[in-house]
Amino acid sequence: MEVIVFPDYAKLSVYAAQMMATQIGNKATSVLGLATGGTPVQTYQELVGLHREEGLSLSEVTTFNLDEYWGLSGSHPASYRYYMWENLFRHVDVPMEQVHIPHGDAPDAMEECRRYEGLLSELGPIDLQILGIGNNGHIGFNEPGTEFGSITALIDLTPDTIAANARFFEASEDVPRQAISMGIKSIMQARQIVLLASGASKAEAVAKAVTGPVSTALPASILQLHPQCTFLLDEAAASGIDNGEGLAVKRM
Ligand code: PGA
Repeated sequence: MEVIVFPDYAKLSVYAAQMMATQIGNKATSVLGLATGGTPVQTYQELVGLHREEGLSLSEVTTFNLDEYWGLSGSHPASYRYYMWENLFRHVDVPMEQVHIPHGDAPDAMEECRRYEGLLSELGPIDLQILGIGNNGHIGFNEPGTEFGSITALIDLTPDTIAANARFFEASEDVPRQAISMGIKSIMQARQIVLLASGASKAEAVAKAVTGPVSTALPASILQLHPQCTFLLDEAAASGIDNGEGLAVKRM
């Protein structure tokens, strides 16, 4: 695992977008795994800038989002389908038929999980997976306790996650209690993984993910076993890491 620490969120975001652009430059038909939440917002802005100003084309790219709230349609402003449209897809040239996000309003959750997993098997593996990390160490919506071999599933969100995401809703009661999430197995099958974390609220989860035991108690710790995983952190998110543990931390 490689850990790179940036002075601030803006520089981390520029670097993350450049990693995505390099991947697309090397392989126009890349399969990208995308994350939502507050952290990747500026990465997507930077990517839009590279599309507009440097001619980066996403026309042959296929995308898979990590997760979607169960019970929200794509027209709900807090849905991840809406987020992706607003933050990225409406500004770039990826055809929407190459975009895959679980349907939060599908008639049957189990059937939707099977459909999504089938698409991942057919069109994957993912070349570059962008991840955030929850305060509780979740990746996607794979909450603590999720088995490392998990595939796409309907997940019960933990109280921590509901509280952390309440800021995107009018009231915390409005946060859906369940979500469909890509499993840890699919995430680990990605050829390359880039995890972004910003802010002191992530420091403890990040420290445990990079130097703690590999345990389902902290899902992101499995990333220690991935052959090509990079953590991009700002100073605050990196502040819990003990450099004395033989971990190579690069500063940019
Ligand atoms: P955030 O979420 O980027 O909104 O902090 C990250 C996550 O929960 O994975």
